[in-house]
Amino acid sequence: MYYSDDVIEEVRSRNDIVDVISSYVKLKRQGSSYFGLCPFHSEKSPSFSVSPGKQMYYCFGCGAGGNVLTFVMEYENFTFPEAMKFLAERAGMTLPEEEYSEEARRQRDLKERVREINKMAANYFYYMLRSPQGERALAYLKNRGLSDETMKRFGLGYAGQYSDALYRYLRGKGISDQLLKESGLMQVNERQGMYDKFWNRVMFPIMDVNNRVIGFGGRVMGDAKPKYLNSPETVIFDKSRNLYGLNYARTAKKRYMLVCEGYMDVISMHQAGFTNAVASLGTALTTQHATLLKRYTDEVILTYDSDEAGIRAALRAIPMLREAGISTRVLHMEPYKDPDEFIKALGTEAFQQRIDQAENSFLFELSVLQKSYDMKNPDGKTRFFQAAAARIAEFEQEIERENYIEAVAGRFQISFEGLRKMVMSVLMQGVPQRKQAVQSVQQEKKRSEKADGIRRSQQLILTWLVEYPNLYGTVSRYIHPEDFSDELYREVALLLYEQREKNEVNPAQIINHFSDAEQQRTVAQLFNAQVKIEKPRELEKAVQETIYKVVEQAIGQKSRELDPTDMKGLQELVDAKRRLQEIRRLHISL
Ligand code: GTP
Ligand code: MN
Repeated sequence: MYYSDDVIEEVRSRNDIVDVISSYVKLKRQGSSYFGLCPFHSEKSPSFSVSPGKQMYYCFGCGAGGNVLTFVMEYENFTFPEAMKFLAERAGMTLPEEEYSEEARRQRDLKERVREINKMAANYFYYMLRSPQGERALAYLKNRGLSDETMKRFGLGYAGQYSDALYRYLRGKGISDQLLKESGLMQVNERQGMYDKFWNRVMFPIMDVNNRVIGFGGRVMGDAKPKYLNSPETVIFDKSRNLYGLNYARTAKKRYMLVCEGYMDVISMHQAGFTNAVASLGTALTTQHATLLKRYTDEVILTYDSDEAGIRAALRAIPMLREAGISTRVLHMEPYKDPDEFIKALGTEAFQQRIDQAENSFLFELSVLQKSYDMKNPDGKTRFFQAAAARIAEFEQEIERENYIEAVAGRFQISFEGLRKMVMSVLMQGVPQRKQAVQSVQQEKKRSEKADGIRRSQQLILTWLVEYPNLYGTVSRYIHPEDFSDELYREVALLLYEQREKNEVNPAQIINHFSDAEQQRTVAQLFNAQVKIEKPRELEKAVQETIYKVVEQAIGQKSRELDPTDMKGLQELVDAKRRLQEIRRLHISL
């Protein structure tokens, strides 16, 4: 770390979170918390909460959360040291000199340092594009129809024509080869040593949802190959978990998101006012992408290329999105290849029309399927409708099946009753095999629901431990930090128990221990579990129930892992089971 834990904690505690966030978000008091519209996703009713007691914020809609340092990093696009400087200044503090010793450098979090290097590179490329060297690159981008404002918004740059320019620049800033290797910006070969991965390319910085540069795409300005070059995966860049443009799209005021394939497509759509467009980065859409999207939207419109590859990509993406609980439609781009070309040729209004006309994903899947049948031949036609009926039969609810029978009958011109009979007959016969598949899906669902339930109980315990000082004695008698089932939960529990022992509860300080934004989010979630119970007696009952559940699950876990010859372990388990029965007789008062 740059700064000692004490300094970090002092800066944090001298900046009241409600004061700081109030200067960005309009907050209204509601009970012991403040609520407002979340600045990190678009919403109409406030689900963004700030707790003066915990000195934390948490959004019940998109899950953004953390302490005051996390907030300014997310909102202002600051690195950790920048956030420290900003808040120190705000509180009128002078920070000690940053530690620049070799030792301190080594200790600093690798991710944070790689992030800084990528930001420096982005600034460098940005500057190069506007320098005399960047003239041709700037002309290329202008020629592709991008305005100055758009280029600025997306931080576009140019990598320079020499293959060691960035290397020398970053070395000049005191960055070691060791670290440069981790940055994803360099290549190494025996003969030349280390040199730039990107040169003579227009550069597209890739930002995460917190506006931090995590990697780059670089495009040649002519027909050379490869057309695009992307940063490799690094400690901060995970292609399957980031979507290009999501940093802007998540606050677009639209109920759906447009998902496409390319950098230029995202940028063109945003420039045309479709600021809810995102792209996966040189890879196919993954289940993680789908989960990420679900945080922000319930509907996706796929705007993939109109060629074979685009259709295949759509067919792969649809089931993943469906699985994540997102409903999907497919936009038809013909006769153009991609959104960039479409908008350039026909303009914004025509594109909006295509959005409005986008096809339901199930009907899209069927129309692709139809191409493999000879529809002029009665046999081919029959087989197609049998296949369609089999797909419709997979919908679990009758009302869903009815709606799709109607839609398919209309779209593919067959009688509603005829198709319905086919679906019924599939449901009658094909059942055994289907049942098996459905059963294993249901089992899996139950398993994951159970795991979620346990996690939720553990979150409640941690939240209540913060909110009710009296509870610690009881809870710590029955639940130990190692009883929590998740590594992160265990760490948080351990820190919180230490604070409770010293009677210095400070959840916001616990967040200082985690430098990863994703972890900070989870910690904030842990301390913001909610139950809708108002009556004190009922709440006490719920607390007792929850303690019981957590202990029961911990015992179950231990007994599954127990070596049958471990007599001592066995005895402990017997004791634990006896104590479990005690919990039923506990009297809890908050
Ligand atoms: P433009 O020609 O600039 O309009 O790009 P495009 O977005 O129309 O390109 P295309 O449809 O060919 O590619 C879509 C996306 O796939 C790009 O944005 C890149 O992320 C990725 N991609 C394209 N070509 C390459 C390549 O040669 N190598 C790699 N790694 N990725 C590529
Ligand atoms: Mn294109």
